[in-house]
Amino acid sequence: MKILVVYYSMYGHVHRMAEEVAAGAAEVSGAQVLLRRVPETLPAEVLEKMGALEAAKGFSHIPVCTVEELPTADAILFGTPTRFGNMCGQMRQFLDATGSLWSQGALVGKVGSVFASTATQHGGQEATILSFHITLLHQGMVVVGLPYAFQDQMRIDEVTGGSPYGATTIAGTKGERMPSANELAGARFQGKHVATLTAKLCK
Ligand SMILES: Cc1cc2nc3c(=O)[nH]c(=O)nc-3n(C[C@H](O)[C@H](O)[C@H](O)COP(=O)(O)O)c2cc1C
Repeated sequence: MKILVVYYSMYGHVHRMAEEVAAGAAEVSGAQVLLRRVPETLPAEVLEKMGALEAAKGFSHIPVCTVEELPTADAILFGTPTRFGNMCGQMRQFLDATGSLWSQGALVGKVGSVFASTATQHGGQEATILSFHITLLHQGMVVVGLPYAFQDQMRIDEVTGGSPYGATTIAGTKGERMPSANELAGARFQGKHVATLTAKLCK
């Protein structure tokens, strides 16, 4: 059973969540879990102005995903930062290159799941994940979220990400907040949940 965790991260928040998603998936017996980044589309001078070059060093060792790699997986967990309530352009561009996979039905029946990051608490986490699901459904994927079995998504004693649609983190408007223990637990739960379901589908 092969599980891909495919993400884009500009300042490291989604990267940290992706690590935890991968760790959760790897807890399931028989899971081979691979972390992959989608290609950068912004020029270096723009990234520099956005203050993104330093953070990128922290995950430059993660291999860049190719479209051809997607059908080799039994499940794919996608991670994206929010851009105006939607997935980021880098992820959109990557997915828009999967038309040939769509025409072959190459992703039909594979498990798909999404996790996300926003700057602010109500900045579009759920909109980002739910609108991402549309692409997965067009590809024929079996969409999986973060069930309330992960009960700590319901806690209100602290500010926290996490929704039934998928694990999330709140980065702060300056990116000053890294994923909390609770948000990382949600990411880990989602990874394990997807791997557990995928193992059943692979039988
Ligand atoms: C162009 C742009 C649009 C953004 N739109 C939103 C938004 O709609 N809501 C929000 O809360 N954060 C928004 N953000 C903040 C990012 O979501 C935040 O930087 C990201 O979640 C941090 O994750 P990362 O470090 O993995 O990139 C935006 C950032 C950029 C650069």
